[in-house]
Formats: sequence, C-alpha cells, structure tokens
Amino acid sequence: MPTLKSLRAQAQRAEPFACLTCYDATTARLLMRAGVHLLLVGDTAAEVILGFTRTIDMPLDIAVALTAAVKRGAPDCVVMADMPFMSYHTTDAEAIRNAGRFLVEGHADIVKLEADASFAPLIAQMVRAGIPICGHIGSRPQRAAITSGYVSAGKSTDDADQILRDAIALEQAGCSMLLIEAVPETLTAAVLKATTIPVVGIGAGNACHAQVLVLQDLLGMTDNPPRFAQPAAQLGKAIEDAGKTWVTTVAARKVGLPANE
Ligand code: KIV
Repeated sequence: MPTLKSLRAQAQRAEPFACLTCYDATTARLLMRAGVHLLLVGDTAAEVILGFTRTIDMPLDIAVALTAAVKRGAPDCVVMADMPFMSYHTTDAEAIRNAGRFLVEGHADIVKLEADASFAPLIAQMVRAGIPICGHIGSRPQRAAITSGYVSAGKSTDDADQILRDAIALEQAGCSMLLIEAVPETLTAAVLKATTIPVVGIGAGNACHAQVLVLQDLLGMTDNPPRFAQPAAQLGKAIEDAGKTWVTTVAARKVGLPANE
C-alpha cells in the first residue's frame, strides 16, 4: 500500500508513480484496483464535477467532502486534497485551519496548494502543525484572472529562474512533494536536479518522478483535452451510447424483468 514514504523511496529508485484526479468513491475504488498510487481531489472538480468554467469556483466544504469520499473508496491510495482558491490566501491561521480540515474531516494524506516562494513561511507553519504539503508550482490556474487564462509557465529565463527558486524554497519550507504544471522540459530537469522530494508533473515532460492527469481527460470525457493528455478510453462516447440505448429501451417498454415477479 503506497504511503508518502514509499512514494518518496520509489521516486528515489527512479520508478515513476501514477497519479490521477478523482472526485468520488466509486471511481476511487476502481482506480485503486488499477494500481494508481495517488489520487488528487483537485479543484478541477469545480469544472468537471460542478460545471463551473473556472477552478476558483470550488467551494471548500464540497472539496473536503469529496476528499473524504475518495479516501473511503480508495483507502489504499495516497489521497491528495487540493486547497481551493481563497482557502489559504487571507490569514495564516485560517489557511492552517482549512488545511487541517482536509486531514481531519477529509482523511487526506497530503494537501496541495498553488504556491511560489512567498508561501514558504505559511507552508512551514502547516508542516509544523503536522500537515504534509505538496507545493504546486509552474502554471497556477488559480491565478488565471491575473494571467488572462490558463497559461503555460517558465518560458522566459526570468520566469524559469523564479520557478526554480520557488521549488527550492518550498522544499526548504518542508514540502513533501512538488507538482509542476505546464513548463518546458529544461525547467523540469533543473527542478529535479535542485530538489530531493518527488516531483509530480502535468504537461512538464516525462522526466518527473510521477505524472498526473485530469481523469476525465484520460477517459475521453472532455471535449477539448490539453495536448499532453492522451485519452486511454472513450467513455464519453460509451456513456452517450448507453444513454441512447436506455432511451430506446424505455420507449419500447422493454426495461428489465416484469415488476413484482
Ligand atoms: O486541480 C487539479 O486537478 C490539478 C491538476 C490539474 C494537477 O491541480
């Protein structure tokens, strides 16, 4: 059964581990059986589960409840909870309390927050409180209002240097893991060289210790998946077909066995 410790050892042995987003107990159970090591209850739930167009619309209470559901479904996976926008940006006390909720109420194993080096003191306090933290660096979708949309990161030398400094500062603050999103492979390589904790990548090249995708992209359920997300199934089509079959079955009055027999 994977733990933060075993994932770190696996990363040190250069054996990549598999991560996927997940937002419900049933799917979590199936992914656990599939051998996925880490399930991320991402704030992408705002989009793929709740139907918003922005991850910043993820409500904290729902994020905590979905995290608990995923852990109930997959007790043998490492479950990572994603802190929603504004749940860690006001006061340190509120941020630490909210992070703690994911451990206590959500039964998460680790809590992720989008961060740069300026978050290092807050992260150090969370770690001091006993909360394992993953620092999400590179492209940070919760800043889409500033960057005018979801954008890649680390393309200019200045930006890449800053992200490298972020990675180092977050490890020094006590992060147990980093997640790096949508950066050039050269920057990923520099981060891997400069840090010792597992680095999970998404759109950051194959060198990372682990890879994560939004589950609906992997399952072929999203209309415009990112370029790096190769669907491994076509569940979108399968669900549509099943829905059509149900519509015709109901219309033909051919549903199951006769009632009460
Ligand atoms: O919220 C999320 O699902 C994420 C992944 C895209 C990495 O942070």
